[in-house]
Amino acid sequence: MSEPLPLLAASDLTPGRIVELLDQYIIGQAAAKRSVAVAVRNRWRRQQLNDDLRQEVNPKNILMIGPTGVGKTEIARRLAKITGAPFIKVEATKFTEVGYYGRDVESMIRELVENAIVLVKKELQIQNESTANSRCEDRLLDLLCGPPPHSIHSSHSARHETASAVEVDEEVGDAESGHSESSSRTTESDSYTKLRAKMLSKLRAGQLEDKVVEFRIEQKSSPMVFGALGGDHMDRDMQSMLEKFMPKSSKTKKTSIKEARKVVFEQEFEKLLDEDQVNSQAISLAENLGIIFLDEIDKLVASEGKGADVSRQGVQRDLLPLVEGTIVNTRYGQVRTDHILFVAAGAFHKHQPSDLMPELQGRFPIRVELSNLIEDDYVRILAEPSSSLTRQYAALLETEGVRLEFTSDGIRQIARHAFQLNQTTQNIGARRLHTLLERILEEISFTAPSLRGQLTKIDAVYVDSRLKDLLADQDLSRFIL
Ligand SMILES: Nc1ncnc2c1ncn2[C@@H]1O[C@H](COP(=O)(O)OP(=O)(O)OP(=O)(O)O)[C@@H](O)[C@H]1O
Ligand SMILES: [Mg+2]
Repeated sequence: MSEPLPLLAASDLTPGRIVELLDQYIIGQAAAKRSVAVAVRNRWRRQQLNDDLRQEVNPKNILMIGPTGVGKTEIARRLAKITGAPFIKVEATKFTEVGYYGRDVESMIRELVENAIVLVKKELQIQNESTANSRCEDRLLDLLCGPPPHSIHSSHSARHETASAVEVDEEVGDAESGHSESSSRTTESDSYTKLRAKMLSKLRAGQLEDKVVEFRIEQKSSPMVFGALGGDHMDRDMQSMLEKFMPKSSKTKKTSIKEARKVVFEQEFEKLLDEDQVNSQAISLAENLGIIFLDEIDKLVASEGKGADVSRQGVQRDLLPLVEGTIVNTRYGQVRTDHILFVAAGAFHKHQPSDLMPELQGRFPIRVELSNLIEDDYVRILAEPSSSLTRQYAALLETEGVRLEFTSDGIRQIARHAFQLNQTTQNIGARRLHTLLERILEEISFTAPSLRGQLTKIDAVYVDSRLKDLLADQDLSRFIL
């Protein structure tokens, strides 16, 4: 179980580096960034320990507290990309207490393992790529050239494909005329070898991509009838069990080489995988490095006396063993949750963290508060990240041949309005920038196709001209901005 995990080259991911990477996307919130960075680094540190000690070190789970729209979810999302560790983000409100109809909390562990499986396969794909590729090439050649001459009557029928795609090709025509003249095996197989070699070089040169071949694929019929019963709620394990009972059908398919390659490569790649090994690696990865981000945890606090909330309290109770460490059965095997890192987040407007069950509070010892954003933050959010909103809009309009330029006084003006609206109406944090920009650029977005070749400057004057009617009317701005 505790074999070293070669999958992450995490040694370079120091806390400083993680924060640096997060800084590229999230403005401010230094405390939150630091603590997630340390938590992630601690996973790596733990991996370096000897077996005995390693089992003793449990992760320190994190609770992120902060108003809406200040970057809680965004930090989690970026962290996932950066670390390459198995990671899932779940809404606490999606779950129901065990025994009630709905998704139970253990399903998040299953989801985490699914995620790890994908990671392990991706890694193995890199390792096995060239083998799978050459086998795939071989099979494509079978499709293109037909079976080798002397095997037609013998073993070749064991192959999956019917080789029948050759009628149209001149090369094949050449080969066949040779074979009708002399039936001597050697020349036959000689010319067949030549044909294959020729096809191979054409294949590699990409000259056969559009050629149509016919081949057989096996299809798993999915248990759709049962799907209707449970849909999302149906347990994956149940689903896979049902799949086993369903008859497999195979059908012949005509596709281009380009399409066939995808299917065949996938098949050959799957054949190279040792399923047990993949499963156990994935489980070990999830157990040791997995991170679960539990969003909206404050919504699990029951406001007194309401029926649906009873189940919320129940979810808190169900979460306890998971966070504390328990064993969950999945279709890939048993998963210990002791070392999975939980990062919970919530706005906690209506409730305090202390309204959570005491036992649950205790299991999230690291508290970080995210701060409200101010005007200067909005300026930076608009201007700095490489995928900032202003860049997104500019890129979208660029596709119409329209150039947008946000001047610095324009950006300042948008930030100022965002901050003020957040003060005077409801504070929705950086999400305010989305509604504002949408409004400011509405006209240009609509008329863009007829503005091709033009440059539009979004400066303070432009911003105000687009917003003035709305800003003048409090009620209106409450609705629209
Ligand atoms: N500090 C920040 N830096 C850059 N972008 C931010 C920041 N805070 C929020 N955003 C942007 O605002 C939007 C909302 O942020 P996010 O989803 O992280 O909010 P949240 O804190 O999870 O709020 P909620 O409590 O409502 O879930 C995202 O598009 C995000 O990119
Ligand atoms: Mg969120």
